[in-house]
This record gives sequence, C-alpha cells and structure tokens, in this order.
Amino acid sequence: MKIGTDIIQINRIEKSLKRYGNKFKQRFLSTSEIDIAHRIETIAGFWAAKEAIAKALGCGIGKDLSFHDIVIAKDNKGAPCFNLTKEAQKLHRIKASSLSISHDGGFAIAVVVIEQ
Ligand SMILES: CC(C)(COP(=O)(O)OP(=O)(O)OC[C@H]1O[C@@H](n2cnc3c(N)ncnc32)[C@H](O)[C@@H]1OP(=O)(O)O)[C@@H](O)C(=O)NCCC(=O)NCCS
Repeated sequence: MKIGTDIIQINRIEKSLKRYGNKFKQRFLSTSEIDIAHRIETIAGFWAAKEAIAKALGCGIGKDLSFHDIVIAKDNKGAPCFNLTKEAQKLHRIKASSLSISHDGGFAIAVVVIEQ
C-alpha cells in the first residue's frame, strides 16, 4: 500500500482560472472532469488529488504520469474516485485505491491510498 497527499491554496487555482480560463482547466482536467467540477474548490481538490496520486505512485507528474493519465469521477453520493487511462494503467498496475478530498479555510487537500 502507498499513501499520497497534497494541499493547495484555492486562490492559486482561482488566479490561474482568471488569467487562462478554460485553457487552464484543459491543461489538467479531462472533459468528464470539467463536467463535474463546477466550483473553484472542487477544481482545486482535483488538482490536489492528481498530485497526491502522483506521489503515491512514486513518480510525480512527468513523463511516467501526466495529469491526463488520471481521470477523477464521483459516485452517486458525491464521493471521489479515480481511474488511470489504459496506457498509464499498464505502467502503474493499480489493483485498488481510495481517494478523499476536503476543502476549508482557503485550502483544498487530498489523500489517496493505492495498492499495486
Ligand atoms: C460528505 C460530507 C461529509 C463532506 O463534508 P464537508 O465538511 O461538508 O466538506 P469537505 O470540504 O470536508 O469535503 C467535500 C468533499 O468531500 C467529497 N465528498 C462528497 N460527498 C462524499 C461522500 N459521500 N463520501 C466521501 N467523500 C465525499 C467531495 O470530494 C467533496 O468535494 P467536492 O464536491 O468539491 O469534490 C458531507 O457533504 C455530507 O455529510 N454529505 C452527505 C452525507 C454522506 O453522503 N455522507 C457519506 C460520507 S461520511
């Protein structure tokens, strides 16, 4: 089992959104993620989640794992989960995972546990 965590100031995401608009979202979110991330704190949570996943996998965001290799979704109660794209899954071979996101006081935080 590997654990990963990340925290981000929500106003950093807000500034980038104001400056670059949809281009900024598209840089790290897929269409399905953009469809479910309506609030800035949710978008910040998704950013933190992807960084946390990259830490748990021990590679960081880079050549072995891009933001677009990770796809976050929500279950019918609103709980987040994620999948890797087929290509990334071939490399990282995740068997099971659990993702939790929270935001308060201007910060978004994500914690992930991954079994490979
Ligand atoms: C889920 C819940 C506890 C969130 O607590 P909160 O203090 O209001 O908000 P937080 O900032 O800590 O967390 C919000 C994040 O929790 C996650 N979340 C939402 N529903 C969730 C759920 N059912 N289970 C796990 N995580 C959930 C989401 O990622 C959400 O952020 P996002 O919508 O921006 O992506 C609260 O909304 C709640 O009680 N919901 C209804 C009951 C429920 O489904 N409970 C199950 C979990 S105990």
